[in-house]
Amino acid sequence: MALTPNWRFILATLLVLWMWASQSTARTLPDASMVEKHENWMAQFGRSYKDDAEKAMRFKIFKDNVEYIESFNEAGAKPYKLAINKFADLTNEEFKASRNGYKMGSQPKSSKASTFRYANVSAVPASMDWRTKGAVTAVKDQGQCGCCWAFSAVATTEGINQLTTGKLISLSEQELVDCDTSEDQGCNGGLMDDAFEFIIGNKGLTTESNYPYQGVDATCNTKKESSRVAKITGYEDVPANSESALLKAVANQPVSVAIDAGESDFQFYSSGVFTGECGTELDHGVTAVGYGKTSDGTKYWLVKNSWGSSWGENGYIRMQRDIDAAEGLCGIAMQASYPTA
Ligand SMILES: *[C@@H]1O[C@H](CO)[C@@H](O)[C@H](O)[C@H]1NC(C)=O
Repeated sequence: MALTPNWRFILATLLVLWMWASQSTARTLPDASMVEKHENWMAQFGRSYKDDAEKAMRFKIFKDNVEYIESFNEAGAKPYKLAINKFADLTNEEFKASRNGYKMGSQPKSSKASTFRYANVSAVPASMDWRTKGAVTAVKDQGQCGCCWAFSAVATTEGINQLTTGKLISLSEQELVDCDTSEDQGCNGGLMDDAFEFIIGNKGLTTESNYPYQGVDATCNTKKESSRVAKITGYEDVPANSESALLKAVANQPVSVAIDAGESDFQFYSSGVFTGECGTELDHGVTAVGYGKTSDGTKYWLVKNSWGSSWGENGYIRMQRDIDAAEGLCGIAMQASYPTA
């Protein structure tokens, strides 16, 4: 009888301890694993922060992004997957500010781009992949410089050059960033059509290896620039808001396209056919290098991006094709163009 109160006391204490322990486990364990995830991610992508305050701030963003990505993938509601990639410690605003760079507001200066040479193309192959035809260089990485426009213009210039000469030569984006400054604005953005204008007037571009990418605005190196290897004589705009016109063009050569790449799902896209959400506020220049259809019948555009090969499907994204809206998914059919030999 004397033992009873003691036992009660011990049991109550144990119960309280157990509840406290399990609660604190519930409270700290996910954070502990998230901290570990963040540390592993930092090691994987070689990221470091200047002090603990910045690290704590970045951790919070990382955690929010990871939770979003994991719940998106678990829901499995879309035909594409997201992944914790090198952009995982950036807010969507930071990401948009530093990785895109297509100046939608400004219209290209020239009116040369009036004809559409593929207007009367009546038959196109069921699928196309310009990579397998040797017309596409390896995926490049624009880094923290908003010069997507230069990467897109260079990719289609590389394409037409290979189609006409048989030689695939990697060309210089930095030359466009540094030297094409009358309309385009280097890391602050530009338009592919203005870049084509520059390349025509400049009588070509030099090679990537001669004038390598720096990822910052610099002074035009006229000596390097004078060694030109690939020229174009013109460029044409694909009639706007027609995926069937875009198809005729992409069936014949890689095509520069502008898209709205501003959403988180684009930031963290990893695989599958991207179906949005996305709007039509064109903020990113990329390159349509093919098209096709999945085994379940989903039609897609094969798009080369310039965010390195760790993003998406080895640097590429498949974007849904032939959607109900005339502008195409993320506005892909709104401002497409290509250089001509
Ligand atoms: C397409 O065909 C029409 C009618 O034959 C012709 O007038 C037009 O010039 C052709 N367009 C091109 C780009 O060949």
